[in-house]
Amino acid sequence: MFKKEIYMARREQLRKDMGHGIIILPGNHEAPCNYKDNTYWFRQDSTFLYFFGLQREDLVGVIDCDKGKDYIFANDYDIDDIVWTGPLPSVKELAASVGVENTGTLKELHDMIYALRSPTCDTPMPLYLPPYRADIRADLADLIGLKYPTVDRHASMELILACVKQRSIKSAEEIAEIEKAIETAYNMHVGAMKLAMPGRYEYELAGFMQGEAWKGNGPVSFPVIMTVHGETLHNHGHNNRLEVGRMLVMDAGAETAMNYCSDITRTVPVGGKFDARQKAIYEIVLGANLEAIRVTKPGITYKEVHQAASRKLAEGYKGLGILRGNVDDIVESGAHSLLMPHGLGHMMGLDVHDMENYGQINVGYDNETRPSEQFGLGSLRCGRKLQPGFVITDEPGCYFIPALIDKWKAEGTGKDFVNFDELEKWKDFGGIRIEDDILVTETGCRVLGKPIPKTVAEIEETMAQ
Ligand code: GLY
Ligand code: MN
Ligand code: MN
Repeated sequence: MFKKEIYMARREQLRKDMGHGIIILPGNHEAPCNYKDNTYWFRQDSTFLYFFGLQREDLVGVIDCDKGKDYIFANDYDIDDIVWTGPLPSVKELAASVGVENTGTLKELHDMIYALRSPTCDTPMPLYLPPYRADIRADLADLIGLKYPTVDRHASMELILACVKQRSIKSAEEIAEIEKAIETAYNMHVGAMKLAMPGRYEYELAGFMQGEAWKGNGPVSFPVIMTVHGETLHNHGHNNRLEVGRMLVMDAGAETAMNYCSDITRTVPVGGKFDARQKAIYEIVLGANLEAIRVTKPGITYKEVHQAASRKLAEGYKGLGILRGNVDDIVESGAHSLLMPHGLGHMMGLDVHDMENYGQINVGYDNETRPSEQFGLGSLRCGRKLQPGFVITDEPGCYFIPALIDKWKAEGTGKDFVNFDELEKWKDFGGIRIEDDILVTETGCRVLGKPIPKTVAEIEETMAQ
């Protein structure tokens, strides 16, 4: 946990930005895996963590903007719990550790919110964020007196935007946490590179990475992607045997004990030596990753950075004879997206896709920058103008997706720019992605964390060890 003054200042800022209302921020419950007492690992809600920092389950935070008060509501553990869990701090003690003076039981929370419903009381209804877990949606329905299916549509857009405003700018202590998560990702990736030898199985490397994440005192930040079929963008199967000739996509990150995330992708040739085709595609994707780092700075939109990286990709594919025509025209048409049907990146922080539970459009776009409807660019999670303090991923890729290539060819999509005959030769290649986490600074950007081998030479050297 950060020191309590940080959480107090965050809540004060939210009160100032909102100006009115009673905000309810529920923490998460335990989530049963196959029966009630066999749970998934506990993951606290990120908004709750941001404003209240506490890791216990079943807590509810309340920020009263009208009276300038904060509350933590929860039931204390009793002896029946404590025989199983050992001594645990009281709700009062937990609240005090994050600068909250007021506490109460869940019954008292219900009484307080119920009183707001009184026809003689003109206080408006409490404000809350759209829930992403069914149990929290049911709690809110019960607490506020709404029908379960209507809960999401009554969530407060004003609260969403105030949270986005504050959480988008990472403070120095948050950046230090993110860099700690990248330090763990370094160990995950460098260790896995050395294991990427023929005869091993993807699950062995994925398991190694999960172990390294827990050694850093946190879980992985999302299910590990470890696949020789990198052309499937989020491939979570791990059953393939590693064979020379395949590129292995490793997209994985860790969370710190405070749940700040990393999200790194490296792609390596099984066996440790790039062949000529692998090197050719790898250098193109690396060029796009480096171009994004070169142009990222405050004031440019990430949509423009995506397009700059796309021009590098298009230029490279043109050099290989896969695409033809003017590079700007290719990118304008979206033809290059046949080989990269996703966006360049997303915000990252307490969530690996930071704040995605608020609705991606509210996080990655604003009135000035709207999402594109074009294939590929339309999948860009964050397109808006960059500000110092944003942490964002830079993750270009190249994917030869046979079903997509066949579809475009049959329909004639992109036929002015795509050389489908040449592309036939690449359909068995798989995919490559390279992903770094970058911080927008006052003058440009900085790749966060200890550098993880990324060039062809660095990867070959690491894998030879
Ligand atoms: N880890 C999924 C992503 O890179 O967005
Ligand atoms: Mn990733
Ligand atoms: Mn990512």
